[in-house]
Amino acid sequence: MTGGTLIVGASQAGLQLAASLRKFGDTEPITLVGEESHPPYQRPPLSKEYLTGEADLESLALRAPSYYADAGIDLVRGERVTEVSLSASGRPGSGLAGTASGRSFAFDRLALTVGAAPRRLDVPGARLDGICCLRDRDDAVRVRACLASSAHVVVVGGGFIGLEAAAVARGLGKAVTVVEAADRLISRAVAPLVSEFYRQAHLRRGTRVLLSASVVGFDGAAGRVTAVRLADGTVLPADLVLVGVGVLPRTELAEQLGLACDRGIVVDSQARTSDPHVHAAGDCTVQPHPLTGAGTVRLESVQNAVAQATAAAASMLGRSVETRSVPWFWSSQGDLKLQIAGLSTGYDEVVVRGEPDSERFSVLYYRQGELLAIDAVNSPADYMAVRKALTQGRTVPAGAAADAGTPLKALLTARPGVAAASS
Ligand code: APR
Repeated sequence: MTGGTLIVGASQAGLQLAASLRKFGDTEPITLVGEESHPPYQRPPLSKEYLTGEADLESLALRAPSYYADAGIDLVRGERVTEVSLSASGRPGSGLAGTASGRSFAFDRLALTVGAAPRRLDVPGARLDGICCLRDRDDAVRVRACLASSAHVVVVGGGFIGLEAAAVARGLGKAVTVVEAADRLISRAVAPLVSEFYRQAHLRRGTRVLLSASVVGFDGAAGRVTAVRLADGTVLPADLVLVGVGVLPRTELAEQLGLACDRGIVVDSQARTSDPHVHAAGDCTVQPHPLTGAGTVRLESVQNAVAQATAAAASMLGRSVETRSVPWFWSSQGDLKLQIAGLSTGYDEVVVRGEPDSERFSVLYYRQGELLAIDAVNSPADYMAVRKALTQGRTVPAGAAADAGTPLKALLTARPGVAAASS
């Protein structure tokens, strides 16, 4: 009897991979194993609509409960795969996986969609109650409950998760301080002028923002956090501390299999690991740049999870698939909606459209005159135009883009010799 396909990790990428296998006509058994007790759900609302109370947990489900049986996908919940091995003599790519509770799964094909785990702070007091991270559904339930009874909230990490949660907490009337180790906010993703815009926007809404600040410990009473201590001696009172200091890709199983890992599981444009019989997709992977093919990137986004998992499913079935896709991402911080299309890495020029103080503007990134990406704040038309340009292999001349009076979509021009990507 065939073991079929084993997909380890039941989140956005894992579910997409299973769904794409079925869509492409695969009739072999599919087992989707996840360590969480919930069926696959959307993560992005956890730090936004779920935290504000606008969305409930049920509305986050990625599929209706009946979907899995209807699609012939065996969804195994609450099981953490801790061991995996490939068969030395059997069919290439076949093997056996074991879980922490002692279950085992034989497979003919294996895919790792294991995601990333939140980084923790390694300072005294870090395990006190009231110190939370915000990555999965259980984290979000804890944070939401704790938020309701807190007056002073300290957010450690001024990245996407930290700022989204800070905006929610401030919107609920809490006293909020963001503690960021770097000298600007969201430095991983945006240009300095966008970082400065966000600092000022959060300040305007009454959130305190401390840059170049490091946490050296937490004070507590009766096992609960009461304050955050900074290296410069500042003590910030806190009933709730939200730690959003980035994520670490989960490479343990890939390492067990001897697969190449370098800041994530290394895959090619078809989501094949260094063993071409094993695939991986989503936040756990490092891949060639999805537009240029040059250099490698690790992308933490729903868009990438979906595109890469679709590519993995196609590759597992020996089908050819369009692998060039335009990365996109969004972050809602209260009433500020940031939309990003493309990848700005390596830019040498930025063009600003509109006035940041109006809280409606966009920044286009170029390298040697070539359009790379856009960050659009409350400017969906600019975002859509650049996403379309990158998808179609077109560009917007930098000189013309600064004129906010002309819609970007009217400025799209052909870029010779560049093929279109899938959106
Ligand atoms: N103290 C304070 N700040 C820190 C520390 C520290 N010890 N260590 C890191 N930071 C800061 C980083 O400088 C960065 O600004 O934490 C921030 C982390 O930001 P991200 O890398 O964006 O990670 P995070 O906000 O945790 O989001 C994790 O969830 O929504 C997704 O896109 C998001 O995939 C990302 C993931």
